[in-house]
Amino acid sequence: MPAVVIVGAQWGDEGKGKATDLISSRIDVVVKFNGGNNAGHTVVVGDEKYALHLLPSGILTPGVTPVIGNGVVVDLGVLFNELTALSARGVDVSRLLVSANAHVITKYHVTMDRVTERFLGKRQIGTTGRGIGPTYADKINRVGIRIQDLFDESILRQKVEAALEVKNHLLVKIYNRRAITVDEVVEELLSYTDRLRPMVADTALVLHEALQDGRTVLFEAGQATMLDVDHGTYPFVTSSSATSGGAATGSGVAPNRIDRVIGIAKAYVTRVGAGPFPTELLDPDGAEPEGPGARLRRIGFEFGTTTGRPRRTGWYDALVTRYASRINGITDLVLTKLDVLSGLERIPVCVAYEVDGQRVEEIPVNQTDFHHARPIYEEFPGWSEDISGAREFDDLPPNARSYVEALEAMSGTRISAVGVGADRDAIVVRHDLLPDAG
Ligand code: IMP
Repeated sequence: MPAVVIVGAQWGDEGKGKATDLISSRIDVVVKFNGGNNAGHTVVVGDEKYALHLLPSGILTPGVTPVIGNGVVVDLGVLFNELTALSARGVDVSRLLVSANAHVITKYHVTMDRVTERFLGKRQIGTTGRGIGPTYADKINRVGIRIQDLFDESILRQKVEAALEVKNHLLVKIYNRRAITVDEVVEELLSYTDRLRPMVADTALVLHEALQDGRTVLFEAGQATMLDVDHGTYPFVTSSSATSGGAATGSGVAPNRIDRVIGIAKAYVTRVGAGPFPTELLDPDGAEPEGPGARLRRIGFEFGTTTGRPRRTGWYDALVTRYASRINGITDLVLTKLDVLSGLERIPVCVAYEVDGQRVEEIPVNQTDFHHARPIYEEFPGWSEDISGAREFDDLPPNARSYVEALEAMSGTRISAVGVGADRDAIVVRHDLLPDAG
């Protein structure tokens, strides 16, 4: 009855889709439990490249039941666009289940996201502008719209009315935008109900029964530990629980049912949007030859899947992974994109920070300290070989193995697999990621 959670151990875009892919043939059910269409998994299957924003990447595996859990916020326009696009490419999407308790992103949430970001000016978060934060805010404020509300028109209308009352004041009087009418919102939402109806389920019960029947359930986190609303670099975070605890609250499966937590960490670090990032490489403008930050961006193709924004890049930060291991209870790490480092003579790794003249070895609890933290690096010798063909750990050059082993020792968690290239099978597996069934 294995229940396995996959989480990002840094600031997102660690390549979670690749780890999912590795075990997907042994998975029966895949659950998305947080976030919405702010995510972006790129999955390469054969010659086809799929960029998914809302649907869990497990939807590409034949026979798997994909589930959108109660912790997710759903933009129904995006949901049906993704489903239509996948169907057109021959992917069977008929098994998808959506929690009746998941919240719905409406057009006023998207508008609020964009206008509030603009209003924040210099202090903006750099959100994806998909309405994620305002939808979670309404959920916590108890004025949200849930999937189940779409099946009772009079309830839906009352709830939209209640939600818009205050928002229209803000939109018109503060943000200088036009008011949004109840009718336009209700009409749009009702246009989805017929297609949505067969997918809606008590997904917590479905998952419970799947585990009772001995099936394997994978919980796929959106975003990552350092973007978690509680444990990340608040306020520069997303608005949901992106850590393993979120798998329980966002799905209705109890924490003691979870058998394994797989953390995904890139062999370097990237971040999209604003907020502290101690190991960030800030190349001087127009650096010639290209600076190390731009090199990581170019070779690692570090541009947002959802927004296309160039990602901020930096060296591996061992404190971040150690923190993520602790917060999530990570049992296995998957180190991705090791190949991007090939060709570097020396590879710096952040082993501690200097904060106001003091050496610190854990993420500072105080945000101001984290903003001031300066990385202390240890350098490791690089390798020049192309490693994309490696399939066994011993196929890697000695310096690449030493780099992986050093990161493993620093994070205190075993590195069970190492990504060595973009292809689906470009991965070195050291330990099986799934616990024995039963
Ligand atoms: P939001 O999730 O749109 O509210 O954006 C909040 C922060 O999370 C911003 O800094 C985004 O760039 C970041 N973010 C959201 N989703 C992802 C993701 O899938 N990968 C990386 N960063 C993300």
